[in-house]
Amino acid sequence: MIRVAVAGAAGRMGQAVCAAVEGAEDMELVGRADPALDTAVADVLGDADVMVDFTQPDQALGNARTALEAGVHVVIGTSGFDLDGLREAARESSANAFFAPNFAIGAVLMMRFAAEASRIMDRAEIIELHHPAKLDAPSGTAARTAEMMEGDVPIHSVRLPGIVADQEVILGDVAQTLTIRHATTDRTSFMPGVLLAIRRVAELPESPVVGLEHLLWPS
Ligand SMILES: NC(=O)c1ccc[n+]([C@@H]2O[C@H](COP(=O)([O-])OP(=O)(O)OC[C@H]3O[C@@H](n4cnc5c(N)ncnc54)[C@H](O)[C@@H]3O)[C@@H](O)[C@H]2O)c1
Repeated sequence: MIRVAVAGAAGRMGQAVCAAVEGAEDMELVGRADPALDTAVADVLGDADVMVDFTQPDQALGNARTALEAGVHVVIGTSGFDLDGLREAARESSANAFFAPNFAIGAVLMMRFAAEASRIMDRAEIIELHHPAKLDAPSGTAARTAEMMEGDVPIHSVRLPGIVADQEVILGDVAQTLTIRHATTDRTSFMPGVLLAIRRVAELPESPVVGLEHLLWPS
């Protein structure tokens, strides 16, 4: 059994992660940390093998440091935090860190196809659409997609109720466009990716590993 603690357990993603861990036969939920539950990360690490963090950009690195110093592996989904700080903290720990800007398997495929298409088509732009409570813009997924693509790829951010997390990559060339669109209907879309990362984080070849693609297509 993999013993899992969740940071941000009272949040939208944290609640979905707790439910997914409780539903997994090879995992046990051993702690829920969240200021809204009056429970700090340090209080839930004692029994944990892995801590999953879906909190806030200004909190994720501190939580990861606390876990790594305690020898607990970390799986981070929080976007917009200081990745260089995580690299430094991971270097000093025997435990591993994994971060994915997007845990939805369809989104990872979208990014890969967009990168490939950008090598052939003339230009591209990205539209990322999220719920209005999302704190960062552009999204980490859009930024990473643009990074993986060739050329200068502008990003447009839309924040509207009724949307969870969608992204469209539109590529244009002579008299034609190609649209690659990933749409989610609820937060369970991220859970197969989160559970995969929890199962694999202890055996990563290096730390931190960034991006679900490294678990789907190990090099
Ligand atoms: N990587 C992905 O696939 C993915 C998918 C969806 C959301 N996200 C990201 O996940 C993060 C959380 O999103 P959300 O919609 O669940 O937000 P949310 O606001 O619903 O939840 C965040 C929770 O974290 C708690 N929190 C704040 N500081 C904390 C701390 N120090 N320790 C423990 N808990 C703390 C808050 O009280 C809150 O309950 C955001 O950064 C979002 O962009 C990533």
